[in-house]
Amino acid sequence: MCGISAYIGFREAYPIVINGLKRLEYRGYDSAGIMIYDGKKMQLSKTKGKVSDLELITDEDEQRKIGTIGMGHTRWATHGVPNDVNSHPHFSESGELVIVHNGIIENYDTIKKELIKRGYTFKSDTDTEVLINLIEEVKKVEGCKLGKAVQLALNSVVGAYAISVFDKSKPNEIIVARLGSPIAIGIGKDSKEFFVASDASPFVEYTKDAIYLEDEEMAIIKIGKKVKVHKINDDSLVEPTVQKLKMSLDQIEKGGYDHFMIKEIHEQPKAITDTFRGRMLVDQSIIKMSSIEENIEKFLSADKIIIVACGTSWHAGLVAEYLIEDMARIPVEVEYASEFRYRNPIITNKDIVIAISQSGETADTLAAIKLAKSKGAFVYGVCNVVGSSIARETHSGAYTHAGPEIGVASTKAFTTQITVLTLIALKLGKANKSLSSHEFKNYLQKMQKIPRQVEKLLEVDDQVKEIASVYKDSKNCLYLGRGFNFPVALEGALKLKEISYIHAEGYPAAEMKHGPIALIDENMPIFVIATNKGHYEKVVSNIQEIKSRSGKIIAIVTEGDTQVKEIADHVIEIPETEEALTPLLTTIPFQLLSYHIAVMLEKNVDQPRNLAKSVTVE
Ligand code: F6R
Repeated sequence: MCGISAYIGFREAYPIVINGLKRLEYRGYDSAGIMIYDGKKMQLSKTKGKVSDLELITDEDEQRKIGTIGMGHTRWATHGVPNDVNSHPHFSESGELVIVHNGIIENYDTIKKELIKRGYTFKSDTDTEVLINLIEEVKKVEGCKLGKAVQLALNSVVGAYAISVFDKSKPNEIIVARLGSPIAIGIGKDSKEFFVASDASPFVEYTKDAIYLEDEEMAIIKIGKKVKVHKINDDSLVEPTVQKLKMSLDQIEKGGYDHFMIKEIHEQPKAITDTFRGRMLVDQSIIKMSSIEENIEKFLSADKIIIVACGTSWHAGLVAEYLIEDMARIPVEVEYASEFRYRNPIITNKDIVIAISQSGETADTLAAIKLAKSKGAFVYGVCNVVGSSIARETHSGAYTHAGPEIGVASTKAFTTQITVLTLIALKLGKANKSLSSHEFKNYLQKMQKIPRQVEKLLEVDDQVKEIASVYKDSKNCLYLGRGFNFPVALEGALKLKEISYIHAEGYPAAEMKHGPIALIDENMPIFVIATNKGHYEKVVSNIQEIKSRSGKIIAIVTEGDTQVKEIADHVIEIPETEEALTPLLTTIPFQLLSYHIAVMLEKNVDQPRNLAKSVTVE
């Protein structure tokens, strides 16, 4: 978490760094700060709050904005509460060095005590101020250059970091380094300017050439010179790969929508199509996925598949469990990455681990991958962010082509993850003949219709808005589903709680009798998925049980349903498809419902409190 944005070159740095921070606010937004170097002094502005609050401060004094070197930060607090002092950037004791940092220095307390003994004082409670003073102390004691001092200091810290460091006495260079947290370097024409950021979005309109540092690498960025990258733990030089960015500006802007979340909800028909385009060839009745084809023997002979993920991605993993077991008859376990990594799991080289992550940077998922690899398992990644840590750490994988997801609440990432996982399940099912050619072809034909069906389903927006206005003041909500739609119930509840702060729980519909039924009264809205093929009669009985206890029913049903309509307080219809594909549809009304409730409650939809888009700390 936390976003870093920096610039060194010939343009005014302020607007570049500030706009960069705005694009990175999804990574953290409890405080923000910026340092602009005007050729003589480093001008620091920082505050608790958002980048817009920071702008109020800098707007008071235009002088603070002048200079062609700048470094900014948007924070998600780990060490030290969000306040002005703990905001980044942080100066060293002498005021000569400045740093912005994303990550955690675990042994900061020991280092801090040692630095205090040596006369250092600390203004903030952060681990970052400890790191910049350590760099200063090393530089002084060793009499070395900034780059060397950063390297030596990093070799004595434990933790995770992406850092950008600037030394006033060397005003043509910035040092950056990474371990566990991402950092990208944008290279301007003829190396006359450079951009540094947590992802490439802050500099996409200036350059398409980017270097993504690998773990344990640092880079010395000097105006007019080629970027020099070397290992942190030795001096070996690394030839960096300069990647061509495919991201465009309009992908990371709101494009007329009020919020990123609603824009991203509406992007789903395209995102799903982009995800299966070129992979699903309906006319030829094949799925082309080289990452599966190249490893097909491993998949087909695997003892089991273990899926690791967090949050919404974990819900997509649960859908995949139902899909893969049903279509390919391969045993699947789904684990929270945070539990898996610490519970001594039984895993062998006959297992396949599928790691699912939108950001590709989630610390727990990354750690679970490393554990699985150490036990000899083959690890396959399903990621959205190209070149992310998880995409690089896995043996093989497939991207979800959702495009940048900026709203903190995941929407199109979820449906595109399910799309990829459905393709995998179908491909495996066809390969081991668990699915007949007829079944396979039928699924492809139905799958092809999904984007158009999602588009049509988005037309229920007004109806969902009306339902939202009825239930927006509820204190608690239940979400129920069965089979393929049980994970959708979990996801619906998560969407509601994370952006509207209403307590919501998802349950398998039949489990209701074993506890949650006690909660039901006339004030309890219950959102039930009752599609026509998924244990329909059983779910109808569950609905009856709720009704006889005065609960309010909002049901998602298949077009043409009559039975549930008679009992439910509200019904939302989804188009007809195979039951295994319904999660791609049933989730849409829940996304819209959470969005509208949060808007009606005047919550910050895109940046809900306490959350961050990319959870790079455990
Ligand atoms: C919820 C949400 C989170 C993420 C989780 C994993 O809307 O976005 O629960 O799904 O933090 O993130 P990724 O998928 O980036 O690993």
